Amino acid sequence: MNKSLVQAQFGRSAESYAISPVHAKGASLARMVELAEPQSGWQALDIATGAGHTALAFAPHVARVVATDITAEMLQVAAGLARERGLENVACEAADAEALTFDAAGFDLVTCRIAPHHFGHVDRFVAEAYRVLKPGGLFVLVDNIAPDRHTTDGFSDEALSEAAADYNRFEKIRDPSHARALTLGAWLKLFAAAGFAVEAVEILGKDMEFEPWADRIHADAEAKAELCRMADAASPALRAFLKPRDQDGALWMTWAEGLLVGRKPA
Ligand SMILES: C[S@@+](CC[C@H](N)C(=O)[O-])C[C@H]1O[C@@H](n2cnc3c(N)ncnc32)[C@H](O)[C@@H]1O
Repeated sequence: MNKSLVQAQFGRSAESYAISPVHAKGASLARMVELAEPQSGWQALDIATGAGHTALAFAPHVARVVATDITAEMLQVAAGLARERGLENVACEAADAEALTFDAAGFDLVTCRIAPHHFGHVDRFVAEAYRVLKPGGLFVLVDNIAPDRHTTDGFSDEALSEAAADYNRFEKIRDPSHARALTLGAWLKLFAAAGFAVEAVEILGKDMEFEPWADRIHADAEAKAELCRMADAASPALRAFLKPRDQDGALWMTWAEGLLVGRKPA
């Protein structure tokens, strides 16, 4: 059910992801490349590539990148951007993050950026990333995270867990294909359970203006009004996390991305 919602939602928004500044230029993109230290002989797999920004950022540094997604329109946009940039080592293919169609131990690097909050079964996705990596291979993940003690100081676990649930409700009103953003604590547990040794963990703040954020996925006027009401009525813990504020007459907030680098033991 969520997969067809994802395909419908992203299918009609594919072009806007090609030019979205947080996707095309967000700080996490360069940081992923920096931390991975990609090598010229590597085979890389980018999961849920969207408009392909992560695949294209790694392509100049590795032998080949397979850019995958479940939304055909997104793969077309990614292939178009690769052609525009003259990147001939990027192959765009349909694949579900939770049931990859690749053999075990075929990739040196697996990446996935700003997408797992759409997956219904993140544990299957992490297990699949582990399966397709060669021993010693790297998994570099970035996703929007929900508040917990890693992101937000000074609140009880109960207040933070309510804020995380409210944050996920907020995201789902804007985009019904949003499944659930995990907390950084939950990601760390998932990586460990799958067998990854965690080599780096970072939190990156992402300032975004509310209107373009809502418009990118075609949120309607009713949804936008509800989101503004929720931002006004946010709990102290959620306010501390999202920091809703007026900047020159426009509503801005700060989202948090978690970046994790995990290594499959050699
Ligand atoms: C925000 S975009 C990804 C952004 C992109 N990774 C980047 O770095 O700019 C989210 C993507 O996740 C894809 N997606 C959602 N669920 C998926 C799944 N189960 N398997 C593969 N792709 C999925 C959507 O089709 C969409 O293209």
